[in-house]
Amino acid sequence: MDAYTATITFLLFMSLSLPNNAAQTQPQVPKLIAPGSSLSPYTSDHNSMWLSPSGLFAFGFYQPGNNNNNNFVVGIWLVGKINNTVVWTANRNDPPVTSTTKLQFTMNGTIIVTDQQGHEKLIVNANARASSASMLDSGNFVLYGDNSNSRIIWQSFDHPTDTLLGGQSLPCGGQLYSSLSETNSSTGRYHLNMQIDGNLVLYPAYTTETFWDAYWSSDTKAHDGVNVKYHLYLNSTGSLQILNRSSDHGNVINTLNYAEEDQNTGGNQAIYRATVDFDGIFRLHAHYVNNGSDKIIASFPKSSRTCEVKGFCGFNSYCTFDDDKQFCNCLPGYKFIDENEKTLGCERNYSKVECRSYKDGVTFYNMFRMSNIVWKDHPYFKDLTMPTEEECSFACLVDCNCWVVKYESGSCTKQGLPLRYVKRTYEADDSTTSFIKVGNNSIQNSEGHENPFAFPLPIKTTREVNKLVPWEVIDNNVVENMVKAALWCIQDDPFLRPTMKGVVLMLEGITDIQIPPCPNSNST
Ligand SMILES: *[C@@H]1O[C@H](CO)[C@@H](O)[C@H](O)[C@H]1NC(C)=O
Ligand SMILES: *[C@@H]1O[C@H](CO)[C@@H](O)[C@H](O)[C@H]1NC(C)=O
Ligand SMILES: *[C@@H]1O[C@H](CO)[C@@H](O)[C@H](O)[C@H]1NC(C)=O
Ligand SMILES: *[C@@H]1O[C@H](CO)[C@@H](O)[C@H](O)[C@H]1NC(C)=O
Ligand SMILES: *[C@@H]1O[C@H](CO)[C@@H](O)[C@H](O)[C@H]1NC(C)=O
Ligand SMILES: *[C@@H]1O[C@H](CO)[C@@H](O)[C@H](O)[C@H]1NC(C)=O
Ligand SMILES: *[C@@H]1O[C@H](CO)[C@@H](O)[C@H](O)[C@H]1NC(C)=O
Ligand SMILES: *[C@@H]1O[C@H](CO)[C@@H](O)[C@H](O)[C@H]1NC(C)=O
Repeated sequence: MDAYTATITFLLFMSLSLPNNAAQTQPQVPKLIAPGSSLSPYTSDHNSMWLSPSGLFAFGFYQPGNNNNNNFVVGIWLVGKINNTVVWTANRNDPPVTSTTKLQFTMNGTIIVTDQQGHEKLIVNANARASSASMLDSGNFVLYGDNSNSRIIWQSFDHPTDTLLGGQSLPCGGQLYSSLSETNSSTGRYHLNMQIDGNLVLYPAYTTETFWDAYWSSDTKAHDGVNVKYHLYLNSTGSLQILNRSSDHGNVINTLNYAEEDQNTGGNQAIYRATVDFDGIFRLHAHYVNNGSDKIIASFPKSSRTCEVKGFCGFNSYCTFDDDKQFCNCLPGYKFIDENEKTLGCERNYSKVECRSYKDGVTFYNMFRMSNIVWKDHPYFKDLTMPTEEECSFACLVDCNCWVVKYESGSCTKQGLPLRYVKRTYEADDSTTSFIKVGNNSIQNSEGHENPFAFPLPIKTTREVNKLVPWEVIDNNVVENMVKAALWCIQDDPFLRPTMKGVVLMLEGITDIQIPPCPNSNST
């Protein structure tokens, strides 16, 4: 053992033997981890992690989700919470490793994990010889170069997964991807993009990243159309800023939130992290060191409950919400691809009929009226001079490519399949009317069913209302209207239900009543 390694070993020994609370009282010299050091995933073992001097951050093996399994993942997390707050994950899309795995830091500037069979996997590659590594109090894990300890050759801050910590930047062109779930750090369904045009934008993952896909933006796009070098920066006191780093001073273009005042934290230390959470919301969280509590400082977009996040519901379904949560429902004529995974979207509830001409549309399809249902997606056709909603609806019925139309004061917007980004609005926001095309052969499926209220579709097409009312005393049209209006009123989704005024207009025959969609079979 040479003198240098001895010093590092001594430093390491000293820092490990320091009690945590003593370590928190004053700034510590970062602990240096010598090449050759290793970790194993035993929770009871000291050697499952490398702690920062303050003991607040750890690098090593953690157990995602419930701690009773034999799954381990390498990452960095905030220590001292019941559930680890993971801020960085190595090779996030690789399967978890087992307890027999070993992690090793080499002087070649790599960190490798080796399983029981001797298979090696690279976790970190600095591409240069390393003299030491360190878990810093900022939450940054760094590797130092061979010649001087101050030269960083690799740092986790340069490879963010879903989180930025205080002092960390998301460079121009950089992205954060949400995790799959609260307990699974694999790449999830949303991402934040620091675009070269200067805009910071949230998108669903796996989309084309157009205006139509975006669900939040910082509105900092450079106006002259040139590409700029803006960075997103989270400063150490919890202010998220977009900086112009092409100038030396890094002038602030935009501040996304007001930083907490010192009096709010009582001068106590807070750790800030900005995370694209698994639900697609970009949130700034504070963790107070003194009492271990957490708080959300800011959210973009503001609410997670109003279907702002595009792509929460899959194709051909719409996002809707009640008081405290949002969920997905199928559009009329569609059913869930997987009843147990309702965010996966919906598929046709009927077999598609070949459509070659406008006649086929009229013969094999009906248009369903929908209120309070809107979407923002690229339309393939828009007519700004459509006089009435009936004409708009008919234009879609006879167009084989059209599956849904939106009518709004003279403009008729046609949309093809799949239908994306559909959501329900509050009743007060209802300025548009939509019509969805549904095949009439879906009707056959429900033949022979006893409860006409659960399967209202046959009434319109067969016009066999007299089957419902055995005595022939009243005008069939009146009964038909009453039945249809009643069916609208028992829709599961309250936003599909008509207003009282709407019902009166329906019953008086002033508005034509469309055939309502089937309420779910579990309703009574
Ligand atoms: C920890 O995670 C479990 C499982 O995800 C959850 O049920 C529990 O409420 C969490 N506890 C805290 C304190 O967040
Ligand atoms: C996370 O989810 C993916 C995909 O379902 C799965 O392959 C992986 O094993 C999960 N990871 C953990 C740590 O559970
Ligand atoms: C370092 O790299 C050299 C050359 O690639 C290799 O022979 C050696 O085994 C590596 N050492 C470690 C500890 O991985
Ligand atoms: C962080 O930014 C805010 C302005 O948004 C500023 O008031 C505060 O001093 C900054 N903190 C540091 C440590 O520079
Ligand atoms: C950003 O910095 C560059 C270089 O200093 C400067 O030319 C440009 O005007 C700045 N842009 C803004 C919007 O401040
Ligand atoms: C924890 O401390 C912070 C800062 O001092 C304070 O704002 C917060 O209300 C405290 N939370 C609890 C649960 O005590
Ligand atoms: C789809 O068809 C089935 C019968 O095949 C029916 O039970 C269900 O209610 C229909 N769903 C919709 C949304 O039309
Ligand atoms: C659809 O309805 C039309 C008449 O309304 C009928 O001629 C046609 O056979 C129906 N198609 C199916 C598949 O039921």
